[in-house]
Amino acid sequence: MATEEHTQEAGGVAMAEARESLSVTDNRTGQSYELEIADGTVRAMDLRQIKVSEDDFGLMSYDPAFTNTASCRSAITYIDGEAGILQHRGYPIEQLCEHSSYLEVAYLLIFGELPTQPQLDRWVYDVTHHTFVHEDIKKLNEGFRHDAHPMGMLLASVGALSTFYPDAKQTEDPEERYMAAIRLIAKIPTLAAFAYRHSMGLPYVYPDNELNYAENFLSMLFKMESRYMPDDRLTRALDVLFILHADHEQNCSTNAVRSVGSSDVDPYSAVAAGVAALYGPLHGGANEAVLRMLRRIETSENIPDFLDGVKSREERLMGFGHRVYKNYDPRAQIIKKNVDEVLEATGANPLLEIAVELEKRALDDDYFTSRKLYPNVDFYSGLIYEAMGIPTDMFTVIFAIPRTSGWVAQWMEMKDDPEQKIARPRQIYTGERDRDYVPAADREGPEKIVGPPAKRPKKPRRGA
Ligand code: ACO
Repeated sequence: MATEEHTQEAGGVAMAEARESLSVTDNRTGQSYELEIADGTVRAMDLRQIKVSEDDFGLMSYDPAFTNTASCRSAITYIDGEAGILQHRGYPIEQLCEHSSYLEVAYLLIFGELPTQPQLDRWVYDVTHHTFVHEDIKKLNEGFRHDAHPMGMLLASVGALSTFYPDAKQTEDPEERYMAAIRLIAKIPTLAAFAYRHSMGLPYVYPDNELNYAENFLSMLFKMESRYMPDDRLTRALDVLFILHADHEQNCSTNAVRSVGSSDVDPYSAVAAGVAALYGPLHGGANEAVLRMLRRIETSENIPDFLDGVKSREERLMGFGHRVYKNYDPRAQIIKKNVDEVLEATGANPLLEIAVELEKRALDDDYFTSRKLYPNVDFYSGLIYEAMGIPTDMFTVIFAIPRTSGWVAQWMEMKDDPEQKIARPRQIYTGERDRDYVPAADREGPEKIVGPPAKRPKKPRRGA
């Protein structure tokens, strides 16, 4: 076969000359091309020279969901999914969780180096002194229904920040960028806590600048009359969870931030796009889905039936599987260690027993291991949040808090990358072409018309 012969020939050339290139033969024309290989990639634009005729658009690559496409160069986060390795700016996640704090990791992500003590002090001071939000944000929150999902509220209030800080539109100005980074990281816990207090019908709690980042967040959630001082084990566990969720290279929400930010919109709007992407149950919504799944399973005796349902594809094992980790998610291993310490402070949780047994059985089952399905970061994080007294609806909101530093770091990197321009993928058009308009009276019967579903939803609609 032509392709096989070519591969062998190309292999021979590679042995002899070891060129960093890929030889491609277009079997439609018999013409060969040499594409440069750099960093283990070929440039999709190099394919465009491959044409069957002068007026041919040229070859494109087709990669729905970007499963094998690098969309940027990045020096922020390194993941080896096969080996279960996660590093930020070269530092292993295990060391950061053991020795660092979330705010220090946020600095590392954004500026590329661990801060000196004076740099760290200024950073922590600046974040701590920008935690308050404009009073009108409270009014914005009051416009939501009492049972509004807090992630929907967070999405709206992060987007609204752009209207409070219009100078952030000057995306090339380093000072504006710094202020946007500070404000986003400082205010997102306040916005998150306000969303929670609204859903509980409780008065909003203002930030307390005497507390650290995690303590202040828990205080804004739970404080009633007197000062709220959470158990150290809880704040440390929360800070570790913040570190673990800070960045994860080109995941769905980060890609959304970069893509929306590539239009040169202000960073608040770009980060709001990240919040929206994170809302989805296949991404940030997974830990919420894990808790709902564990509650539905109810007791360990029901696990075999549940797993049978997963295998027959009636169910999905939430908190398992990952697009890049085809091994144990290193973040899940770190979290698992924290679960016991938190439960020591808060008391046992029967759902933990189900989670442990579920994990054990799934890891003993060829269905899951052959598909490289292992627990991901969300399998245990929900249990910690629940033990802290945080309602399930808030889990994704809490994920958005630390991920904000990753989004900001990735947004800044994108802005400084001379190769980036407005993100605009191509498509393979599959629809009709060149049809003549048909007047309504002449159109064929309703079975041919695609439109709204015939049946109304069974549940009564809320509101207008
Ligand atoms: N339960 C059951 N089967 C699964 C699961 C799961 N959680 N995840 C993947 N599979 C199966 C797929 O059905 C597929 O099987 P098949 O080859 O027989 O058709 C195979 O494993 C490969 O899965 P893909 O769909 O190719 O994996 P992909 O990389 O597209 O999906 C994802 C990754 C979305 C995370 C998926 O594993 C999933 O839905 N997990 C549950 C949701 C979850 O926990 N998300 C959190 C991810 S971590 C984060 O966002 C912070």
